[in-house]
Amino acid sequence: MIWMRCLLLCLMSECVAFAKEPADTNYDEVNVPAYELPNALIDNAGNAVDVDAWLSTRRAEVQQLFEDAIYGKTPRRKLSVRYELIESNPTALGGRATRKQVAAFFGRDEYRIDILLYIPNQVANPVAGFVGLNFGGNHTVCSDPEILLLNGQEKDRNAKSSRWQVELLIDRGFAIATVHRDQIDPDNYRNDFSDGIHPLFYLEGQTKPRTTEWGAIGAWAWGLSRVLDYLETDDQIDASRIAVIGHSRLGKAALWAGAQDTRFAMVVSNDSGCGGAALYRRCYGERIHHMIKPVGYWFCANHQQYQLKEQELPVDQHMLMSLVAPRPLYVASATADRWADPKGEFLAAKNAASVYGLFEKPSLGEHKMPRANHPIHTTVGYHLREGEHDVTEYDWRQYLNFADKFLRSE
Ligand code: GCU
Repeated sequence: MIWMRCLLLCLMSECVAFAKEPADTNYDEVNVPAYELPNALIDNAGNAVDVDAWLSTRRAEVQQLFEDAIYGKTPRRKLSVRYELIESNPTALGGRATRKQVAAFFGRDEYRIDILLYIPNQVANPVAGFVGLNFGGNHTVCSDPEILLLNGQEKDRNAKSSRWQVELLIDRGFAIATVHRDQIDPDNYRNDFSDGIHPLFYLEGQTKPRTTEWGAIGAWAWGLSRVLDYLETDDQIDASRIAVIGHSRLGKAALWAGAQDTRFAMVVSNDSGCGGAALYRRCYGERIHHMIKPVGYWFCANHQQYQLKEQELPVDQHMLMSLVAPRPLYVASATADRWADPKGEFLAAKNAASVYGLFEKPSLGEHKMPRANHPIHTTVGYHLREGEHDVTEYDWRQYLNFADKFLRSE
């Protein structure tokens, strides 16, 4: 099953080199080791923290642990940026939406990112919305023939529309903005950090990130924040009501973006698995050592030292989700997506409860893993969808119901 999925993914040029299922993959609960999760509410000096200490020091400490051990540090330096409206149409999608295609030029126009944005026409401005990166180019997300091709191919137009449900979002009154991930950092196993955004931040003589500096996930997360920067300048958008969303590797990036950038009002992880929503310590499905050769560049170089030593990580993914608190967080899994460890994804979300509790927000602390297609929507939402590793209309309907609850203005 896994190798079939991987082969398919490769054919769809999403996958780098997961040619076959690693022989040592554990899919048996019996072989999940006994583990103890690090406590988000005990600081590095061993002291218990309350909400004030969480906000003033512990939160930053936890973020730094993720920077050092997993994703690498994102440069804080701001690049200058210039936006250019390349194309727009107030009657797109049969008159239901306003479409904008905006180029963001960074530095001295050295680097360009193309944002595709749809805004619903039937709701009063400014509107809430979603931001996510796409795998194959903006033209893949819906059938609209006016989406600029950039480097993509005509034959791929609309190829991923089922994953984006643009018209459903518009009909439900939410805007959607997307960028092709490869415009931020090409997702390619030969990735040497020379052809994406990284070089704009190198110091004199530097040619690749240091061991605790950002990899591709860090760059993609950075890109998500840059889309939000643009949305802050668009008066049709309410940038204080924007959710960040991502699927799979881009779900890992969405979680990391939402953890670092508290301007995101809501965070959605769809089937993000290892290095995303799943607990490392369960050692179920994909593990660090499976990732090093094909996609080690997604993470910082330091991440490798935890291969086969997950129990030594200073954090686990419930703490990544804790960084989202008290904002609404949604984690979704799929029954056939064992490689991503649905139970590990649920348990990470559940174990973020202590930090949500600091803010007196209801979360998954008292909940058991639900049956397939039985979503739970507290401030932390979760569902297990019947089916494969994918984003479907079912997933989006849950995210939109959740957003109705948390992103609508009062
Ligand atoms: C592979 C990889 C996962 C990743 C997925 C994807 O399956 O092992 O970690 O989430 O690709 O991004 O599609």
